[in-house]
Parts: sequence; structure tokens; C-alpha cells
Amino acid sequence: MLLTDSTPSVTADASPASQVDADVLVVPLFSTDDALDDVPGLDDATGGAIGRARASGAAKGMAFTLHGVDVSARGWRARRVLLVGAGPRDRVTSDVARRVATTGAARARRDGAVKVAIVNRFGGETASMVQAMTEGIVLACFESDGYKSRDREPTTLRHGLIVETRAEEETVRRAVERGVILGDCTNIAKTLANEPGNSLTPRVLAERAVALCEPAGLQVQVLDEEAMTEFGMGLLLGVAQGSAEPPRLIVVRHEPAGAPAGEVLGLVGKGITFDTGGISIKPADGMDRMKDDMSGGAAVIAAMRAIALLGAPVRVIGVVPAAENMPSGTAIRPGDVLTGASGTTVEITNTDAEGRLVLGDALWYARQLGATRLVDVATLTGACVVALGKTTTGLFGQPGPWLEAVGRAADRAGDRVWPMPVFDDYREQLRSEIADIMNSGSRPAGAITAALFLKEFTGDLPWVHLDIAGTAWSEEATPYQPKGATGAAVRTLAELAFMSDGW
Ligand code: BES
Ligand code: MN
Ligand code: ZN
Repeated sequence: MLLTDSTPSVTADASPASQVDADVLVVPLFSTDDALDDVPGLDDATGGAIGRARASGAAKGMAFTLHGVDVSARGWRARRVLLVGAGPRDRVTSDVARRVATTGAARARRDGAVKVAIVNRFGGETASMVQAMTEGIVLACFESDGYKSRDREPTTLRHGLIVETRAEEETVRRAVERGVILGDCTNIAKTLANEPGNSLTPRVLAERAVALCEPAGLQVQVLDEEAMTEFGMGLLLGVAQGSAEPPRLIVVRHEPAGAPAGEVLGLVGKGITFDTGGISIKPADGMDRMKDDMSGGAAVIAAMRAIALLGAPVRVIGVVPAAENMPSGTAIRPGDVLTGASGTTVEITNTDAEGRLVLGDALWYARQLGATRLVDVATLTGACVVALGKTTTGLFGQPGPWLEAVGRAADRAGDRVWPMPVFDDYREQLRSEIADIMNSGSRPAGAITAALFLKEFTGDLPWVHLDIAGTAWSEEATPYQPKGATGAAVRTLAELAFMSDGW
């Protein structure tokens, strides 16, 4: 099924816990209202160690905490039980299930387990919980040390089991299959975003898109500078002109047989392979992180792959404008005026506001190719990080029902999003004396004015903008997320392609 080498096989298993054949059996533990009596014999199998751990407060079920105990009973097949805290029972969501699974599987992996099993104790809708748990196991097998010549920690984990009494059912089997692909594609996006700017240039990103998408049955087309010039894509070309690396416009198409004629979902992802800021250069501190400024593009490429592998019923077009933002003698200057493919003229007031420029031409092109609904994903503004922090993606756009549809997809995906306004009043900040619009306004509401800039290029189609500047990268490792790229928005985009009934 074309999976990453480190991705484990995952299956559902209807055995009682005692008969589950795994190195580690992960048992989610709630912090409230949990007698654990749906896992009969567990305490006895550990010689009472679980009861003692709970009595002493060593295992309280606080979210994403771990407590491991050995299994001594002969009748049991698993040798070790990992209690993973799942928080209060009445606050369980599929995202809790996903994170519990990642936490448990990551620990089992570090301990050298080959086979990990997780008991589905989450209640709720079985299929979505099973899918989320499967995603969680696959996410735990992400290999994040790809550039070390020594001390690498290749995953030992080869198999995951979802312990679920309804394992025989087709819906459960399909949920596992979806979870494997969505987890794997999230890991693929992380790998792309972690890749340094010197190796992942726009041309290489385009090659990666071909290698990832064509085997999945997608059509991929890569536009070079000549084609961009023909379309008059002066915004994308302008951003790229300071770099020795030529830009690319990556176009991926999913055209399933029998898709309804009316709707074409257009997914557009910012693909700045490195953002120095250009002539409006960024401070040195933390600039290394700007290798991830193509996280939106990676999300689109990885989501397109998932969409194809899972057979989404609608037509989808992915567009990724890829360029490097560099200062040089050929770079654009503050004060320059560029003309986009739509004919819109833009006064450049800050060359570091480059994402909105490349996205402007890409949004126009997605419409040109027939998109009827748009979602763009971008590490667009530091202001969004100030507003919402590092856990929540900014959700912008119109009209309301389309925002709500993307919000529901994000809920399923475990990507946290929160709505931000795009009132016309803010547009004032982008008014230029000499051109149609300026690319950067004053400091207030910086995430919103960036979104309003993008809106100019959406032709009033239903459009959502996801600002993942805060969520694309994790500065700190957590029990369920290693440092570095997070794969934000990959699963949201993929889930959205399966929700066309509710659009
Ligand atoms: N890629 C950055 C945004 C960013 C900042 C992403 C921090 C992740 C973390 C973007 O191109 C940028 O530089 N935006 C400017 C816009 C400003 C010049 C209007 C910003 O946010 O400072
Ligand atoms: Mn920038
Ligand atoms: Zn940028």
C-alpha cells in the first residue's frame, strides 16, 4: 500500500485482553469514574500492581501520563501493560484517543517493543475512535532523526493492534485502513517540513510531489518559470527573483471516475522552501526554523496523496507555489510594484510578507483550473502565533457554512482551529497610494490583514485560509509530539474531501 518504511502494519483484534499477543498492551486509564472492570483480570495479571499504583497515586489517569507494570500471570500473552492517562472520562474525544495511542506507542517503541496493542476503551463512535487510535500508533513511529550519521533510533515497532470487540466488522477494518494512511501521510508532511532548505529546494519539492503523488494515482504537473511568465505570475516570480533557485508551481489533480461535475475542491499550500525575509531580512535568531515555511505546501501534497489512496469521491486540485525568499542583487525591493496573474498590482512594502504574494498567484491559478471552493494553508504570520499561540490554527474565510465545514473536518482530524474575523474594515490597512493593494500593513491585526490580502485573489468563491504559523512546528517535545514539524492540517484537508455531502 505504498507506506513509509517505518510505518507499522495495524490490524484490529477482537481477543480478550488476556489473549492479545503483543509485547506491550496499552490500557487507557481515565482520571474519573474508572473501575477498569471492562478489562477483566488486569489487576490480578499484574499481581495487584495496578491496584497498588492507583491507590498510591502513581497512576491517576491524568492525560498523557504513563505508568508501566509487568504482567506476571501465565495465562496472559502480553508481557507488559502500559497505563496511559486519558483524563476525565466525560471529556473524551477522538483527539484524546489519538494522543493516548501516540503516547503509549511512542513509549513502547522507545522500550524496544515490536508489537503494541491498544485497548479501545473510549466509547463514542467506534469507527472514529479506531481510526484515531490507528493514526496515533502510526504517528508514534515517525522517524525524526533522518540526518544523524550516528546514534540513530530506527523504529522497532512493526505491528499495531487495536483491541476492539467489533474487530470483525467492515467499518472497523476500514477505520484502521484510513488511520494508517492518514497517519502515514501526516508523517510524510513532517519529513518534508523538517528537511533543510539546502536539500529541499523548490525543484526538489516538485520532485518529491511527483514521487509521492503519481504512484497514488494522481496527475502531477510542474510549471517552470517560462510557464509562469506566460501566465503573468509576477507575484510568484517576484518573490523568487532574489534566489539562485528557480521557483516551481506544483499542480496535483485527483479526478475520480464518476465524481459529481459541479464541485472541485482547490487546496493551495504555501511552499516557501526557505524564508530569509528577503531584503526586509529577518533577525538571525530562530531563522533556521524558516526551513519549514513550506509546511502548508507539504500539507497539501501529503493530503492529496491520502485523498487518492483513500479514494475521495470528489475532484480535488492541489496547487503549491514553491520558491525561496532570499536577499540579493536581483531580489525585489521595498517600494517595488508587482503585477499578479489576476492583473492585481501590488506595492511591496515588506519583502518578508512573501507568502501572501505566492499564494495570490496560486489561488488565481486554482480558480483558473476550475476550483469551485478553496482552502489555503500557510505558515503565514507571526501575528497569528501572537493571537492564538502554538496549539491553535487560525481559521479565516467566508461564507459561514464553508468555515463550519472546514471546522468539522479539523475536529475529526484533531487539528485545533479557531475562527478569526475578516471584516472589510481591516482592508484600509492595505490601501496603497500607487497600486491596487500593499502587501503589508501596520502591525495591528497582522494575521487578519494577511488573510484579507489573500481574499483579493479568491474571486469571491467559498474560501478558507488556515494560518498554521503557530501549529506547524513544535519547539518542545510532548509525550505525543516530537520536536519539529507537526504535520498540521494534513488530516483536515484529507477529511474535508470526504465530507462533500455536508458542504
Ligand atoms: N513565514 C513567515 C511567518 C512566520 C513567522 C511563520 C513565524 C512561522 C513563525 C512570513 O513569511 C512572514 O515573515 N510574515 C511576516 C509578515 C509581516 C512582514 C507583515 C511576519 O509575520 O512578521
Ligand atoms: Mn516572510
Ligand atoms: Zn514566510
